Amino acid sequence: MITIIGAGRVGSEAAYNILEDRIGDVLLIDLQADIARGEALDMMQAAPAIEFDGKIRGSGDFKEMEGSELVIVMAGQARKPDMTRIDLMNNNAKTVSSIVKEVAKYAPDCKLMIVTNPVDIMTYIARKESGLPKNHVFGMGNILDTMRFRSYIAQELGVSREDTHAMVIGEHGDSMVPLAEYACVSGIPVTNLLSKDQIDKIIHQTITSGADVIKLKGATTYAPAAVIALTADAIIKDRKRVMSVSTCPSGEYGCSDYSIGVPAVLGKNGVERILELKLSAESQQRFAKSLDAVKQAITQLKS
Ligand code: 2OP
Repeated sequence: MITIIGAGRVGSEAAYNILEDRIGDVLLIDLQADIARGEALDMMQAAPAIEFDGKIRGSGDFKEMEGSELVIVMAGQARKPDMTRIDLMNNNAKTVSSIVKEVAKYAPDCKLMIVTNPVDIMTYIARKESGLPKNHVFGMGNILDTMRFRSYIAQELGVSREDTHAMVIGEHGDSMVPLAEYACVSGIPVTNLLSKDQIDKIIHQTITSGADVIKLKGATTYAPAAVIALTADAIIKDRKRVMSVSTCPSGEYGCSDYSIGVPAVLGKNGVERILELKLSAESQQRFAKSLDAVKQAITQLKS
């Protein structure tokens, strides 16, 4: 069973994607229990049309998450236009801290995926406050950035998005590091296909992409929801997918104790392995700045 805590637009859309993709049964939990129940009921009524027989239910009671394999936390305030993810930090830290204690109590063997922003900081808090093993706690941020990076590469080249492959590491925020040196189209490095100016433009589009959507419609929905389902699939089906998640390295990338986006192998044991890549001098420098941004935010939070 997959438990989603927070039945707002992203939570509900992610639940529906998980059902549609037949990844597993879903429990939606929200303090506004009727919203969670209503969303679940609506999805249950859609299920014959998508030929889905799995279970979906809504609740306001944390106890019901007992036995969950994966718990996804997206409760908290969402980013508004002109707000950075860091602005959200103080309020959401309290919410995440109290929720993950409930998770540790009722589903101590679960893998815990944090989506609440700022995701790297919330993942750090979730690990500290839940006491769960560090490979069981990770944040979803850079996978979404990677999908955006891939979309813009495909758009610039006029090729299928399916054939684009890329990786974004670092903070899920303004200091993220899209790795141009590892981006390719069907194995062809994008550095062979695009000029430096084009690559710089795509990197800029990737960094501002979430804020661009928020400016237009107030929130991002489909992209985060789709990526949550993709990540759930990697864990529940033990796919060993290689994705960049916010996790706490043990010295890799010059980082330990903090949580930041790095490439990892995802399977039934959560973050099963961190892949340490050789970065270009520019990416190395940008990653160091990104790590500093995360460290500073945590220092700010502690004070
Ligand atoms: C996003 O980038 C809101 O962090 C979320 O879409």
